[in-house]
Amino acid sequence: MRYLITSALPYINGVKHLGNLVGSMLPADVYARYLRGRGHEVLYICATDEHGTPAELAAAEAGLDVAEYCAREHQIQRDLGERFGLSWDHFGRSSSPQNAELTRHFAGRLRDHGLLEEVVTEQVYSLDDGRFLPDRYIIGTCPYCGYERARGDQCENCTRLLEPALLINARSAISGSTNLERRSTKHLYIRQSQMAERVREWIDSHDDWPVLVTSIAHNWLNVGLEDRSITRDLKWGVAVGWPGWEDKVFYVWFDAPIEYIGATNEWADLAPGERDWRGWWYGDTDVRYMQFMGKDNIPFHTINFPVTIIGAQEPWKLVDYIKGFNYLTYYGGKFSTSQQRGIFMDAAIDLLPADYWRYYLMANAPESDDTEFTWESFAFNVNKDLAGIFGNFVARTLKFTQRRFGDVVPEGGVPGPEEAQLARDVDEAMSTYVSEMDAVRFRPAAFALRSLWTAGNQYLDRTAPWNEADDQRVACVLRTAINLARIDAVVAHAFVPFACERLARDLALRADEWRWPGAATDELQVLEPGRAFTVGEALFPRIGDRSTLNAWVAEMEARFGGRETAGVAG
Ligand code: MF3
Ligand code: ZN
Repeated sequence: MRYLITSALPYINGVKHLGNLVGSMLPADVYARYLRGRGHEVLYICATDEHGTPAELAAAEAGLDVAEYCAREHQIQRDLGERFGLSWDHFGRSSSPQNAELTRHFAGRLRDHGLLEEVVTEQVYSLDDGRFLPDRYIIGTCPYCGYERARGDQCENCTRLLEPALLINARSAISGSTNLERRSTKHLYIRQSQMAERVREWIDSHDDWPVLVTSIAHNWLNVGLEDRSITRDLKWGVAVGWPGWEDKVFYVWFDAPIEYIGATNEWADLAPGERDWRGWWYGDTDVRYMQFMGKDNIPFHTINFPVTIIGAQEPWKLVDYIKGFNYLTYYGGKFSTSQQRGIFMDAAIDLLPADYWRYYLMANAPESDDTEFTWESFAFNVNKDLAGIFGNFVARTLKFTQRRFGDVVPEGGVPGPEEAQLARDVDEAMSTYVSEMDAVRFRPAAFALRSLWTAGNQYLDRTAPWNEADDQRVACVLRTAINLARIDAVVAHAFVPFACERLARDLALRADEWRWPGAATDELQVLEPGRAFTVGEALFPRIGDRSTLNAWVAEMEARFGGRETAGVAG
């Protein structure tokens, strides 16, 4: 079996915050790394989602042509992803020619099967902006609560759903112009209403999905699927291209998920003749396809995108497993892109190493509920688990060996009952880790990882090699501990790849020693006596110390916002 992994495509418009990261790209990466570590063939695909009005407006604000703007922002997001260790096989762009071709292909199939309908509607046209305005770019006074900046789709003050015609003193959110008129325009609607039963059957054929995912999908199905427009009067997007449709593009939410396939096609085109993108997506495959996303994205991936795939009536692959996440909050409030509240990928990675964020975010992933980011818990988790348990185990093992025997794996002694006990602890932590990861449950998996690290410290505490006079015995203990450090490096790599690769270099691991461990009794005696290692800097330097930690937390709260500023709406 091969694994295809995709994470929801980050919108092009600006750097993502940690809430975005933990709900999609990071768990997909941890999972992809885990599967690769276990020897599976994996393709992890992501891309920037580039079309739509927000990209056009952000480009205009930056004084750039929208294509230039997207190229620049794509590069920024790619660089940040790499700094966080996101191991995409390809990070594509929904504005690619491959995606345009596939998008038109799917629309053509839907049309041929009678699943598209032409509908003429009236929409607001702004004469001064020279464009149709999407509902949320029309603002005015809310007829219910009097809020003066209510959007045409919803009032963010009283949360009531609105329509542009209900707004008092309606004006363009782009220019402020009130020079608006209604114009009729035609659009393509996809007949989702006809496909509700097929979608329901497909969803119900998956009894292993998280409740969060199936319950959101069922809510939508129970309300009833409405036909949905898949075109817009914009310039920036995938051109529909059919006669009579020259001025229209597909709606960004229509082409974005197709880019999962488009990006796979882009990936193949980078190595002509070597990669078979269709083999991952089309026909009978041995592929298990898994998607990762935040809960706001679940309706699109359980209903709208499957409607496109099913409606095409070709053997394109539907997703096999969807992992959805709740929200990470910032001190209980929303991370907000528009208000820049919370912490964003660029600031985070300038501040501290990727592994710290990766571990903290996954160990506290919002799996069964929303979870709260605070600087205090972040520092506490990093210092306790990474510095205090994993880093400390490696440091005490290598430093003590160096002092007693030099920088080599010591020779002598034979494993006894203490080593047997350690092997049992390691086997148990490993088997929990594997079963939690196979079930795509990251928090308990992180907990099992910590038990694996803890087993090393407990072993050193029990055997107390620093109190032991018998060189043979000490050599056996330290050799076993060094071997455990190798196991830790391989197993923890999915969560904290940078530190584990550092450790692998310090232990001078050969390629064949970097493999998923089997039974611990054998694995604890793999590294042969006499081989050299290096004692490096601490794997995870602590954040602050007892006297400076509070000041550090206060500084971060002052810089990024804390409890007081987080409760505000929006
Ligand atoms: N850009 C969307 C968001 O940020 C996610 C798109 S996922 C895709 O919510 F499947 F449509 F690409
Ligand atoms: Zn209101």
